[in-house]
Amino acid sequence: MRVLLVGDIVGRPGRNAFQLVVDRLKNEGRIDFVVANGENAAAGRGPAPDMIHALLNAGADVVTLGDHAWDSKEMVAGIDLETRVVRPANFSKGAPGKGYVRVETPEGNITVLQLIGRVFMQPNYDCPFHQADRMLKGELGADKVIFVDFHGEASSERMALGRFLDGRVSAVFGTHTHCQTSDETIFPKGTAYITDLGMTGPKDSVLGREVEPVLQRFLTGVPHKFDVAKGDPVLEGAIVDVNMKTGKARGIERIRIQI
Ligand SMILES: [Fe+2]
Ligand SMILES: [Fe+2]
Repeated sequence: MRVLLVGDIVGRPGRNAFQLVVDRLKNEGRIDFVVANGENAAAGRGPAPDMIHALLNAGADVVTLGDHAWDSKEMVAGIDLETRVVRPANFSKGAPGKGYVRVETPEGNITVLQLIGRVFMQPNYDCPFHQADRMLKGELGADKVIFVDFHGEASSERMALGRFLDGRVSAVFGTHTHCQTSDETIFPKGTAYITDLGMTGPKDSVLGREVEPVLQRFLTGVPHKFDVAKGDPVLEGAIVDVNMKTGKARGIERIRIQI
């Protein structure tokens, strides 16, 4: 089973790139299942449920979120009705939504779990390491094929979590920084890993936003509106080939496809 993992989709350019590339890869028979990070899909901000449905219609099987999960009031109100969207499992107890979903496929179940980091992030998230450990010993104990989106800032924290979960999940992949790393690998016990998938959106930008307002913010310290940049869209991510019987990864290929 080849699973396409898609880095943070930013605004309309990102959504367009996502649709085009997923169509192409499916037509070429290169992918069987798609996990996409959608936390910036709505003009760079967190999506409402209708945007999630658009990503699902465009070919995503599961959409993950992140620190922008609650940008839209509609998502806070409606996420409990969604079956194919996950927000970080280590959000505070009582937060709406789910931290994992389990999807049936003809070859077996695929579970997608999301966690969020605490280094250089909000301090009020629960520990992602202990959260993952508890879940893998608990409700996910019988799941063979598990993909973990670790939405974090620090490479050290993400790499450490990847090592911590080696052999216990099929893949750990980072999202959030919008900068693709070239460290894709398979750890000794069979877990595929990449520190960050990158971004799906306009490359001629600062993390998907227009360059000039971001520069002015740094130069003056005055808040500016950061609109999504235009043009030059790219899809960044990785394709993981997983053995559905053992849950071990057979390969990981990093991808960057310019439209
Ligand atoms: Fe994020
Ligand atoms: Fe993001």
